[in-house]
Amino acid sequence: MPRRRKGASLIALALDRDAPEALHRQLYRQIRDAVLSGRLAPGTRLPSSRSLSGELACSRNTVVNALEQLHSEGYLGGLRGSGTYVSEELPDQLLNAVRPTAPETPGGGSAEAALSGRGRALLGLMPRRGARHRAFLPGLPALEHFPFDVWGRLLGRVWRQPPEALPRHGEPAGHPPLRAAIADYLRAVRALDCDAGQVMITSGAQQGVDLVARLLLEPGERVWIEEPGYPGLRGPLLAAGLEPVPVPLDAQGLSLEAGRRRAPDARLAVVTPSHQYPLGRTMSLARRLALLDWAHERGAWILEDDYDSEYRYAGRPFAALQGLDARRPEGGGRVIYLGSFSKVLFPALRLGYLVIPGPLAAAFARGRAALDDHAPLIAQPALAAFIEEGHFAAHVRRMRRLYAARQQALLAAARTQLAGLLTVEPDEAGMHLTAHFTPALARRMTDREATRRAAAAGITVMPLSSYFLEGAGPQGLLLGYAAVPEQAMAGAVRRLAGALAGG
Ligand SMILES: Cc1ncc(COP(=O)(O)O)c(C=O)c1O
Repeated sequence: MPRRRKGASLIALALDRDAPEALHRQLYRQIRDAVLSGRLAPGTRLPSSRSLSGELACSRNTVVNALEQLHSEGYLGGLRGSGTYVSEELPDQLLNAVRPTAPETPGGGSAEAALSGRGRALLGLMPRRGARHRAFLPGLPALEHFPFDVWGRLLGRVWRQPPEALPRHGEPAGHPPLRAAIADYLRAVRALDCDAGQVMITSGAQQGVDLVARLLLEPGERVWIEEPGYPGLRGPLLAAGLEPVPVPLDAQGLSLEAGRRRAPDARLAVVTPSHQYPLGRTMSLARRLALLDWAHERGAWILEDDYDSEYRYAGRPFAALQGLDARRPEGGGRVIYLGSFSKVLFPALRLGYLVIPGPLAAAFARGRAALDDHAPLIAQPALAAFIEEGHFAAHVRRMRRLYAARQQALLAAARTQLAGLLTVEPDEAGMHLTAHFTPALARRMTDREATRRAAAAGITVMPLSSYFLEGAGPQGLLLGYAAVPEQAMAGAVRRLAGALAGG
């Protein structure tokens, strides 16, 4: 039986501590639904965060987190000092979301009320998409430098006169030449121990997580995820009915001690060891070995998301967990390696891959066939040629130099214009910097509020707190710099500084 607490009298709020959805998300969703359905009328004053946390028997942080998000999305007004009210004027887009687009629901509620609990939890993970500006959208590469002429030529070469078998159904694991090209690349560059038979092409990293979750785990099983971590990896875990358990990081990476304490029975750990996303730390060798020991002792799995591995500007990368695992005396087999082409080519490509332990590869292919047959084949032959003919490696080399210079430009602009607002440190890898709030800025606003203000100034940033599943987390902003030309950097940083300085 879930332990339910009697909710806040006003709109019968109730938190379910056994649900996979974090408490602050539950609270956020319930208040938002009450606003959208009219149960909380515009202008209604909410109880204080202190009394809500008392009534709901949850931490004040949980309540503050939920209220701040509702505030930054425009549902609530007047957060500090004068009490919290339901906004008099809800943004149009919110009203539109419940008017014509809402399906008929038996209770006449909002469209979201028609979704399953799992569906609502998924929506809760993803902020509404607003405008996405090049400065400073994390994960966006320098598209103006991508060799689209080469790419177009390769696509045309394959599809003007495709080999007879190509337009038919392909293999569930993907186009064999692409799988071979990826295996060669990973062996040479990331010291993986793999052959083409272990590579499965996916529609991006998220689908890789989805396949691992559904093919290896039972619903209800628990999964260690990094806290903070990339929310896009949590969605497929929730959708597969798993329970993601946030595990804090220490100086060496994911804390095994905390993981063992919080979910001793976990069946999977999802980690970003090369470059922790979003904080940018590298998992130490000792921690990698200890994590492998854990997986072998428990018969658990490790999903190694090597997202940022291509863009390392200083130092040598540690060997991937997959390769370390394969070199254990008793043999490997506990690590599934996850890769994506979103940042080296372009995000809309939606191609990624899994490297599956050899003995499981055939079973994965059959399981995959039952779900969606295979990833679309249109781009796969062109991508295979792009890698085989050296364009991929050349592009990575060019972008590595370009992004290193763009990071320097961001640091230089931040030093002069963001001093006193944000602390920005260099990072030896990746495509973004994580800027932490100074105490002075933290006294004035939250990172969600800062994100809203930046958006109004035409700048896209991501609030660091949104990468935490529990608690408010430290306040900060992710600044993706890869898509911002050096000459545009100072101007963009100035606009961000202006947005944060006012008020
Ligand atoms: C850590 C991490 N893994 C994976 C991805 C996404 O990969 P894909 O676009 O292939 O789903 C991202 C995107 O930002 C990410 O930050």
